[in-house]
Amino acid sequence: MIAFHRTALAQQLVQALQGRSLMGDAHNGLFLAAPRRTGKSTFLQGDLAPALQQDGVEVVYVDLWADTRRDPGTLIAEAIAQALQSHLGLVARTAKKVGVKSVKVAGALDIDTSKIGQIDGLTLVDALRSLQQAADRPVALIIDEAQHALTSEAGEVAMTALKSARDQMNKPGQVKLMLVMSGSDRDKLLRLVVNAGAPFYGSQIQALPPLDTDFIAHVAELVEAQRPDLVPVDRAGLQLAFAAFGHRPQFFMAAMGAVLSPLSGGSGRFEPALQQAAQDQQAQDEAQMESDYLGLKPTEQAVLWRMLDQGPRFRPYDAEALRFYREKLGRPISVQQAQKALESLRQRTPALVWKSARGEYAVEDAAMHRWFQVRLEGGKWPPATEQGDLPFDDE
Ligand SMILES: Nc1ncnc2c1ncn2[C@@H]1O[C@H](COP(=O)(O)OP(=O)(O)OP(=O)(O)O)[C@@H](O)[C@H]1O
Ligand SMILES: [Mg+2]
Repeated sequence: MIAFHRTALAQQLVQALQGRSLMGDAHNGLFLAAPRRTGKSTFLQGDLAPALQQDGVEVVYVDLWADTRRDPGTLIAEAIAQALQSHLGLVARTAKKVGVKSVKVAGALDIDTSKIGQIDGLTLVDALRSLQQAADRPVALIIDEAQHALTSEAGEVAMTALKSARDQMNKPGQVKLMLVMSGSDRDKLLRLVVNAGAPFYGSQIQALPPLDTDFIAHVAELVEAQRPDLVPVDRAGLQLAFAAFGHRPQFFMAAMGAVLSPLSGGSGRFEPALQQAAQDQQAQDEAQMESDYLGLKPTEQAVLWRMLDQGPRFRPYDAEALRFYREKLGRPISVQQAQKALESLRQRTPALVWKSARGEYAVEDAAMHRWFQVRLEGGKWPPATEQGDLPFDDE
């Protein structure tokens, strides 16, 4: 497995987070969106976190998808508590050695050493402030899949607490708490920043740039080093294939491995085979979405259709939506029926629909929007079963 590092990008973000770049608002929180499997977590953990640490920043990383059964609020609290504990552990050990029982961190916050490691009693704001003082350096909290915090009330509360910690700890020219939030769906992340009631109202969502020409050049060099018979590798061809793989390195590298394998039986150039593999993958992804859609009950299909059609404007039960369902199904649908359909879209594995603690809905996989759009423009919406059945028969 190869690891390609994006050092320059990480450096730029470090500067921005510390409020050192002239423009931008990253010191108020950096919100990064990029599609699934495009390398967000790898970048945050492998490039951004080390760059921050090198710059003298204490980094706390938490992935809210690490365990979806646990409450996002708890996961955030635990990650902070763990970092705090390792620092207090040191302070406490030193204190013990010289015979001191109570620990005062940096002269400001009293920490009851018996509570070390427990976040309860200590609010998130206090915990972050204690961590900053105990570490005696600025703190960066990186929350991966941050949109997941909005699916529970405790998660929402945690987000509001983080906003408040940021406002208390940062002053112009002095950033002590940096917040980085990432997610695979821009629309969902938007709910953290977009309306006046949102915790980070006023912040912008940035697109984390996909891996691109530098990554392709790196891969091409690796191939050329290993297979002198293939020099020069067609970089433009690789680039096209990578784009067709949706800039997802995992699928791209797997296909590279397959077409370059001595077992592939291919002769001549490997680049066309790679592009073919990319098209096959795309067709396979689309076939999966189609079969998921066709496997739904008619009411579920209608609700999902509306959601794909409306995007962030989707309101499941307004008069327009109910009219839409009736029109597509040829019979009226009650609010309860629509509700039931939404619930079962959410309960499927894998879930097709995401719901926030405030009752907002979105499709789980943003790639579905593109699939819908392409089919719509190609006159191929809605998908129909092979036998040519109308998808909206009886239930
Ligand atoms: N810079 C990179 N160099 C090489 N491979 C990479 C790089 N970034 C990501 N990958 C590979 O791509 C795959 C997905 O990466 P990662 O988990 O970081 O993506 P993600 O966007 O966080 O995905 P998810 O949406 O599932 O959370 C992994 O198999 C990883 O090894
Ligand atoms: Mg990830």
